[in-house]
Amino acid sequence: MTRTRVPPVLVTGATGRVGRAVAGLLTDAGLPVRALTHRSEPAADLPANVEVVTGDLTVPESLDAALRGVGAVFLLWTAPPATAPAVVERLAAHVRRVVFLSSPHQTPHPFFRQPNPLAVLHADIERLIAAAGLESTIIRPGMLASNALFWWAAAIRGDGVVRWPHGAAETAPVDDRDVAAVAARTLYQHGHAGGDYVLTGPESLSQAAQVSIIGDVVGRRIRFEELSPEEFRSETEGSWPRPAVDMLLAAWGATIGRPAYISSTVSAILGSAPRTFRQWVADHAAAFTEAPTQSG
Ligand SMILES: NC(=O)c1ccc[n+]([C@@H]2O[C@H](COP(=O)([O-])OP(=O)(O)OC[C@H]3O[C@@H](n4cnc5c(N)ncnc54)[C@H](OP(=O)(O)O)[C@@H]3O)[C@@H](O)[C@H]2O)c1
Repeated sequence: MTRTRVPPVLVTGATGRVGRAVAGLLTDAGLPVRALTHRSEPAADLPANVEVVTGDLTVPESLDAALRGVGAVFLLWTAPPATAPAVVERLAAHVRRVVFLSSPHQTPHPFFRQPNPLAVLHADIERLIAAAGLESTIIRPGMLASNALFWWAAAIRGDGVVRWPHGAAETAPVDDRDVAAVAARTLYQHGHAGGDYVLTGPESLSQAAQVSIIGDVVGRRIRFEELSPEEFRSETEGSWPRPAVDMLLAAWGATIGRPAYISSTVSAILGSAPRTFRQWVADHAAAFTEAPTQSG
């Protein structure tokens, strides 16, 4: 008996937070995975049986080799927008199916409806995917729980004072592993073509409460010191892109006094409850207590 060879899934962003987990879960599910990186050095920490390929979203023709023989693509876009039309055109020339990591920019909650250049980019890419006739699933996570690493881990490891704006703003952080699990599921299980999934964590938590949960879990009292938006702009000057700062301030500011939007999509698709923020912190506690090692 001959077995049909299953074509690989090309995972973009495979060295990043969500894509790396997607690659691992697809491999666990028995699918061959091709992992895209635009860096020349070998990618660290990818499962051994993942085929690593080089290609750059800003150089569309560099993707041809990576796309050859692929059955589906997990697409996430962290590159500048200019080459998105040419890349989607190339995807459509090679595959029928794409799962795109977007954001909940259509969700009618003030947090998601503020001026946001990333949302504009996501909407543009979704339009390109639809116009190219690709069979798509759109994955729309709200705030990723892992943002806490970038935002607060250094301060928590340091003097234990988190200086941050809009402490009362509530979000429903979603565990990156749940986002990856939903994305992977839509690639190895039938029935998700045309799916449009807004993914959130299970609870609405103010930013100050999230910091306090981290303190609880690591057994350390963390002080939350409220910054005005202007103070936050000047503290992040030169180290954060200004559009990202403005986007976050607008979203947090607009949601003050309202609970975060919560969806039940993670449970509906995975058949298990989304992980709580406390669970995410417990599984990443070392990042809030130990200096990071140089890797990846
Ligand atoms: N943070 C949030 O709360 C949130 C919420 C909703 C949606 N999102 C979306 O999630 C996405 C980010 O996902 P993530 O956090 O998993 O990413 P990430 O950890 O920031 O990793 C970025 C990935 O993009 C790849 N990359 C960067 N430039 C590239 C290029 N020119 N060509 C090919 N690959 C390139 C990198 O791979 P190499 O460097 O190896 O090439 C890396 O794997 C964004 O689209 C963001 O808008 C984020």
